[in-house]
Amino acid sequence: MSKIIAKYPSNIALVKYWGKYGYQLPCNPSISLTLKNASTTVELEKKAKTKEGIELDYFFEGIANESFKNRMVDYIGKQPEFEQLFKEFAILINSENTFPHSAGIASSASAFAAISGALLKASGYNQPDFNEVASNLARKGSGSACRSYFGPYALWGELDGVARSNNEYAVPLEDIHTNFQSMCDTILIVEDQPKKVSSSVGHGLMKDHPYAAARFVDAKKHCNEMLSTLKSGDFNQFISITEREALSLHAMMMTSGDYYLLMKSGTIQIIEQLIEYRKETDLPICFTLDAGPNVHLLYPKSIEEKANEFIKAIQDQTKSILYDEAGFGGEIRSECNK
Ligand code: PMV
Repeated sequence: MSKIIAKYPSNIALVKYWGKYGYQLPCNPSISLTLKNASTTVELEKKAKTKEGIELDYFFEGIANESFKNRMVDYIGKQPEFEQLFKEFAILINSENTFPHSAGIASSASAFAAISGALLKASGYNQPDFNEVASNLARKGSGSACRSYFGPYALWGELDGVARSNNEYAVPLEDIHTNFQSMCDTILIVEDQPKKVSSSVGHGLMKDHPYAAARFVDAKKHCNEMLSTLKSGDFNQFISITEREALSLHAMMMTSGDYYLLMKSGTIQIIEQLIEYRKETDLPICFTLDAGPNVHLLYPKSIEEKANEFIKAIQDQTKSILYDEAGFGGEIRSECNK
């Protein structure tokens, strides 16, 4: 029987998705940079069924992972697209990440992109809109995963004036200025322990957040501004939108009913040093944050050497550093077993 191998990257949002409704639909549009090095590879094999219902064996880096398996079984059971596949076969999935488990990087984006892609292919779907259908399925597993199919930039969510933009699946952004075509994302790991509050809890807290309505309007405005910035090549605009978005995301966490903080003192120290460094050098380098304490440094490849000077100067304040850059989405293929 054939084996399916799917390799899909993670992505980092420039304009953040925070707050959802219905079945994992976003309350505001978001724009992300697709990564190249941080990825998940999934190997999927079809086996003979031994009993009724969904049969899944799930291994993460060679070890059976029951909790993720349960999350997957729940997800699979809700997708009619996978019904026939699981009626006919038991499925074995082996999954591996290129980034260390404890690096503080959210792995659900690359994992759900790879798993949904692999399951869709195993179901025999082969139409030209494969990525859109897979993106829609991945979105239901982990919202941000839907953006990992397209690169270097993807938009998820309805936005006036952008053809095909919608809440169900992501679309690639076109007409990207050369200034933004080879961006680097260097991830400064200040904390590698699992975070205390998950993103799903954070999204949930937007439901009766006092600033939710204003946040959703602001994020939409930032998407429109980011779109024109990516076309015009204006670094100052890029920096201003990206940093404001990162801080808005964390401001939402800090001002929700059950308020919480994910930034650490090390996060703030590095941000302040970066702003100072940018003032001194006038270099186009900025930060963004995920729902966590680690700092993502974004800059064009053309200033890599200079950026490394800054990174070297602050490396003692980090637990580790991951070097990544803009990528173009995933790869998927079938291999015949002997
Ligand atoms: O995809 P989720 O449910 O893990 O949420 C992701 C939320 C952020 O990473 C903070 C923002 C984003 O748009 O990716």
